[in-house]
Formats: sequence, C-alpha cells, structure tokens
Amino acid sequence: MAKKKIFVTVDIGQAALERLREHGYAVEVYAEIHAPPKALLLEKIRSGIDALITSLRDPLDEEVLAAAAASSLQVIAQMAVGIDNIDRAAANRYRLPFTNTADVLTEATAEFALFLMGAVSRKLYASEKLVEEHKWGTWHPYLPFLGDEVSGKTVAVIGAGRIGKAFAKKCIGLEMDVRLYNAHSRDEKFIEFADREMQLRFDAGFSRKRHRIAYVSFEEALQQADYVSLHIPLTMPGQAAAPTYQLMNAAAFARMKPTAYLINTSRGAVVDEAALYEALLYHKIAGAALDVFTQEPLPADSMLRDARLKERLRLFHHFASGTRETRLSADPAIGMAGRAVQGVIDVLEKHYDGDLSRMPYVVNKEAFKS
Ligand code: GLV
Repeated sequence: MAKKKIFVTVDIGQAALERLREHGYAVEVYAEIHAPPKALLLEKIRSGIDALITSLRDPLDEEVLAAAAASSLQVIAQMAVGIDNIDRAAANRYRLPFTNTADVLTEATAEFALFLMGAVSRKLYASEKLVEEHKWGTWHPYLPFLGDEVSGKTVAVIGAGRIGKAFAKKCIGLEMDVRLYNAHSRDEKFIEFADREMQLRFDAGFSRKRHRIAYVSFEEALQQADYVSLHIPLTMPGQAAAPTYQLMNAAAFARMKPTAYLINTSRGAVVDEAALYEALLYHKIAGAALDVFTQEPLPADSMLRDARLKERLRLFHHFASGTRETRLSADPAIGMAGRAVQGVIDVLEKHYDGDLSRMPYVVNKEAFKS
C-alpha cells in the first residue's frame, strides 16, 4: 500500500518528524526558514497529501480550505495554540478537522509574560546597555535611573483561560493582588484555591500583606492594575460575540494608570498599535513589553521602533513559547511538535474509533458531533 503523505510547512524538529516516519508516513518538510508561498501550499494540497502540519504563519483561508476539501487531505495540525490564521467557519463547512497545541505551551508563555513585567519595569535592557556601552559611572542611589518594583503590585489578567490562570498563579508568588477579567466565564474554584493560597502565604509569613484575587470588569481591571497582561485569543468583528480585535484601544489606555505597564504575549492585533504608541509617547502609561504584533515580523518602519520609546517599550520576536522542550519535544504531553504530530496520528489512524469529536487535539469538534 502506498505510504500516506504529510506535508510540513516548517521544520518541527527531527524527533517529532521521526515519530511520523516510524508510523510509516512519507514526510516532506518545507526546508526554508520562511513560510512557503501560498501557491506552493495550494500545489502541495492538490498533489494529494493526507495531512498538513502548519504554523501560525500559514494563511488557512477559504481558498486553501476549499482546495483541501477537494483533495485527499484528512487533517490539518497547527503547531500553535492560536488559530486566528484558520478560517474556522470554512473548515467546519468543509468538515475538515484541524488540531492545535493547547496546554503544552501554557507554562512557557505564562512565565515569559512574568519575565516581561520585570524586564520592562526593572529596566533590564537599559541596565545591560549601560554596562555594554561603558557608561556605568558609579553606584548612585537613583542615577542614572530607577525601576518600578513588581512585587506587591496589582496585576490585571485580561483573558483568564489556561495561560492567564497559569500567569496569575505565578504572580501570587510575587505577592501581587490579582484581578481577572474573562468575557465569557468564571472559574470560581480557581478563585477559591488561589485565595486559600494567598491566606496560607500570609499566615506563614511568606507574604507581607494579605493579597486578594477577584474577577472584575474589563474597565475595573484596567483602572486598578499596575500591570495589564493580555492572554486572549484574537477574534475579529463578526467572528465572536465579544471580538478582541483592538480591545486595547485609546479608550482602554485612557483608563490605565499613568504608572502602569502593558504586557502582550497573546496576539498583536488585540492592541491598537497606533493608540499604544500615543499612550507611550504622551506618558499616558509607563511602558509596555510586546512579544506579538499586528504584522510579524515587525516592519522596519513600525512606529513602535521609535527610539524615544526604546527603554519604555521592549519588543520581542514572538518568543513566549520558545523553550526547547515546549517547541520541540516529540512527547505530546510536553511539546508543540509532539502534539501536532499526535493530532495527525489520531486522525490518520482513526484513534477514538475514528470519532473526530472525541479526539483531544481536534479544535473544531462542533463540526463532527453527531
Ligand atoms: C503562539 O503564539 C501560539 O499560538 O502557539
């Protein structure tokens, strides 16, 4: 019997690719660093592949999904938790399953958000630069600059899903008060246990103050926070009841304290970058650290590169999930690569009695419920 064919749009690491080969599949990997052009993606789909492994750089739009539906393709496995590059409605219409890599990047992303808070507010870049450029004159109580302490402050977690809650748990260790905002649901058990942890930490003398955690409205979260950290998926108007596109706009920045910082490790387009630029330039907020942008890589002429903002606005290369284990482990319980590969294996090998609605990594289960 001919081997089943899998096209992988980016090198997901030898260990995960080897797992596919061990399962008897013919695996072709697009070897370039950049994403394949759409024309090539269409050509590969039309050439008769059985599975496609993608990254968040591949546009899985109506045209691509229509081509996929008319071909032998049985599953698309995306190596990312975010799925805003996939037209879910079209995938459902064509009854085409796609998988993602939720869970395995939760801790890596949450800790990165935590580190970004410290990086921007303790001015790590400015401090390193001083040493590097031989401008460190002497120890001085406040010169050439001071940072803002994170410990003991209030953090707003915008989007209290898997990553938001993991981030909140880490913030408790920093003796922070936590405000959670979630548009659709509340996890009362999480609040109850987090509150018990805060009580225990206080009783044991691990924290100097009795800290609190609570769900609040979006407006309250912005008003009360010293740090606002975004953990929401990107949804466009018309796609969701409460779309997140440019949720952080001029009105939102106006509600934040002038001493507050914005942290974004979710998706760039949940922030209105022009409004953020203004908020920073006119000191309406103290600073920001961004790992994601509306356009990636960040264009050379982006206003966010303004040298005047450099020390208050720290920019990263969509790196929050970028740890060796999280990106490349072939174990589906640990790595994004492993989970993407397992998503393919589940579908092609008809695990779960071939019931797509029961396969753990299939995202659009709603299209397959009987
Ligand atoms: C990364 O941004 C992801 O969605 O996995």
